[in-house]
Amino acid sequence: MRRREFVVGALGAGLAASNVLDSVIPGAPAAGGTASASQLRTAIPFGAAVRVDYLADQFDYKTAILEHCQMVVGEGGLKWIDLRPTRDDFVFDQPDRLIAFADANGMKMRGHTLAWYGAMPDWTQQIASEAEAEGELVRHIETVVGRYKGRIPSWDVINEAIADHPTADSPYRDSIWQQRLGKRFVELSLRTAAAVDPDMQLVINDYAIENPTDQCRAKREALLNMLRDLKDRDVPLHAVGIQGHLLGDQEIDKEGLSHFVEAVAALDLEVLVTELDVIDNKLPASTYDRDQIAAATANDFLRAICDVKRPGAILTWGITDRYTWVPMWFTRDDGKPNRPLPLDVNYRPKALMQVIEEYTRVPA
Ligand code: G3I
Repeated sequence: MRRREFVVGALGAGLAASNVLDSVIPGAPAAGGTASASQLRTAIPFGAAVRVDYLADQFDYKTAILEHCQMVVGEGGLKWIDLRPTRDDFVFDQPDRLIAFADANGMKMRGHTLAWYGAMPDWTQQIASEAEAEGELVRHIETVVGRYKGRIPSWDVINEAIADHPTADSPYRDSIWQQRLGKRFVELSLRTAAAVDPDMQLVINDYAIENPTDQCRAKREALLNMLRDLKDRDVPLHAVGIQGHLLGDQEIDKEGLSHFVEAVAALDLEVLVTELDVIDNKLPASTYDRDQIAAATANDFLRAICDVKRPGAILTWGITDRYTWVPMWFTRDDGKPNRPLPLDVNYRPKALMQVIEEYTRVPA
């Protein structure tokens, strides 16, 4: 059953009557009622990060991606660590396989990511000068964006450039690019990517801006300052990616996040939700309770954004709890497996998927 049928079927079958929808999705169809056309909001494309090797050898995984997604992004494959084993080599096997899968199934593919501090091969630490850094960054972007020109319509050109605890004097995160080029690596990356593919959506992607904390407030301010500076200097930029790795035990700063989205929109920038999942390591042991809290947290997050501006897409960072990065950093004290994603380990939709269905749908 493709996602569109699932949505109508689930809502039409009185799932709205259960307390699942009512408890996590204010404004969901009345209990016992069925979704009206107006309640299935205008399509916001939904997608997920994909581990391309599993598409080849795991039927259920591939089926879930085909059933639920209109977009894909490589969880790996287009990072320096994957592409650039040595200074002289480019390895495109993973992204080539993912773009072939996307093309064969009428899906769009996002590119992630061109300039990041993370997942960098060791040889990049040998980049010694500003000129060398500029040369390597430009060559990388020209080669990689050029290879997929016209086939990857949206790129996270800049990923996580804002420091985890930014200050007025030091808003930017440390990286080889920041060390060698200063903040101009951002403009250089954007201008280089735009020159290669003028039709590509240029995105700056970041995280931890959605809670009512000093850190999130500081990150929102630093990110907005960077965006305003870039727009003031006519640097090509089209959208902000709000990653959405939500801390399930923390409330969403709906006012703060909505004001951030208003300010982004005022800069004539689009908004994407790029890496949504709910980190549940501090949530109750009960899977039912965890799923309900995760879904409610995601609903608050999406509500705060969508009440201000319709995102160009909503993507989760994986599709099934079977394959998620979360336990790399956020294991539970009780040893129970994390449940951050829309489908459980057996690919069954959870309350989080129903929340996502409320904000997206497969076009008829
Ligand atoms: O493929 C190798 C495997 O051969 C090897 O045996 C194994 C042991 O180390 O490592 C495997 O590679 C791992 C790779 O994920 C594939 O699973 C890397 O060590 C590991 O560092 C890498 O982690 C990824 C991380 O980014 C760093 O690139 C996560 O899967 C991925 O979910 C995470 O995604 C990031 C986004 O890019 C940016 N936003 C935050 C998000 C979560 O951290």
